[in-house]
Amino acid sequence: MQEKLNDNFILKNGGYSNYEDTTTLPRHRWYYYKEGFSPYLVEKAIEQTEVGKGELIIDPFNGSGTTTLTSSILGHNSVGIEVNPFTSFLSDAKVKNVEVSELSNLESSLFKSVEKGISSPLLGYSTFSETKKLDKWLFNDAVLNAFEGGWQHSNSISGYNSRKLVRLALISTAMQNCNAKRDGKCLRYRDSWRNNRFDETSFAESLMLNLSNIKEDIQKKPIEGKSKILKGDCRNILKISNELTNFKLCITSPPYLNTFDYTDIYRPELFLGKFIQGSQKLYELRLETVRSHIQAKWAEPTSSDFGLLYQQTMKHINENKEHLMHKNIPMMIQAYFEDMFNILKQLKDKSAKDAQVWFVVSNSAYAGLEVPVDLIIGDLASKAGWFLKEIGVLRYVKKRKTKHSPYITELRESVIILSRNKF
Ligand SMILES: C[S@@+](CC[C@H](N)C(=O)[O-])C[C@H]1O[C@@H](n2cnc3c(N)ncnc32)[C@H](O)[C@@H]1O
Repeated sequence: MQEKLNDNFILKNGGYSNYEDTTTLPRHRWYYYKEGFSPYLVEKAIEQTEVGKGELIIDPFNGSGTTTLTSSILGHNSVGIEVNPFTSFLSDAKVKNVEVSELSNLESSLFKSVEKGISSPLLGYSTFSETKKLDKWLFNDAVLNAFEGGWQHSNSISGYNSRKLVRLALISTAMQNCNAKRDGKCLRYRDSWRNNRFDETSFAESLMLNLSNIKEDIQKKPIEGKSKILKGDCRNILKISNELTNFKLCITSPPYLNTFDYTDIYRPELFLGKFIQGSQKLYELRLETVRSHIQAKWAEPTSSDFGLLYQQTMKHINENKEHLMHKNIPMMIQAYFEDMFNILKQLKDKSAKDAQVWFVVSNSAYAGLEVPVDLIIGDLASKAGWFLKEIGVLRYVKKRKTKHSPYITELRESVIILSRNKF
């Protein structure tokens, strides 16, 4: 497997596996989403796979929708699957077309509702707003109420696409006016959040800018291809849906094996947009996510025939359990590879004869060992019937020193390129 690793990959160090391009490119910039890959990676994959018009591009872990949006802009048809109802909403909103005048016409009444505000159902809930018990809270009351005023107003917008885009702008605005910012696995409070008080005025200013960007981009980048977003667990959808049958290119990036829980990090959006109500529903959503974290009591994995590298990894992990941050890590690792194997098998069943898969992953570190996730997935892909073309190194990401793996300072991020045909 090691011989398939290409450390001189043509896309290495070109920013292809990070989100930064999405902060400036039309439509992508509508939401600040740090866990995405670059639209240029999708463009490269489409180019190299020679996807023809009418052939299907899919992404079973569609996230913010970089794959579906890029494909649609280029005139290709695409299907994305996403389990998180907020991100599935986001990726769908980004490919919507609407008359700019329709958005302009509804602005004045929207801003009146924002200015007036409505008492938010999140006031006093958990850490969402200031209460006597908290010394930190995510949103000032004025921001939550301005948001709610806008949200309730959006119910009266008759155009489906306009309503979606206004809601996206409202959620984006709320997060720009949040006292904390996403930082890796957590929300970190902004340095000066107590002095820099966000309120209905700062909310209205950000909303104005967000809507203006949306209007500008709709004109600049009309959507050409058809795009469909399926909301739910790809492990089930891939089994039962015909929407992905005969795909030509799958370009995707599953959650990494790093205990990052997307339902936790996007909890503010899930509650703001009323996608989830209450902690029980949030927990139920967690159970539908790929087993890459330890925030849920998962069904135990049943298989472990994942190749020699996997066996060597698990031997080390099991012999060094005292250096793990949580006792469930060994089970999580096994379950993660079981999920990946099943997905690769299902993808194979759905693929066209000349299909390719571009699978972006990062290695992880546990108990002082770098787990070669890319190489292990390479093994799993071969076992699932794919030909492994190469594992292209995209970059080495600096890693914070941790007490459990103090000597691992960087982790490899790669794209595993699989083909249905031998080349
Ligand atoms: C690394 S992100 C994908 C980012 C995407 N490439 C982009 O550019 O925005 C992984 C995504 O997988 C989603 N996910 C996790 N478990 C899933 C499942 N069982 N089915 C579908 N999506 C899932 C997460 O919610 C997250 O949005």
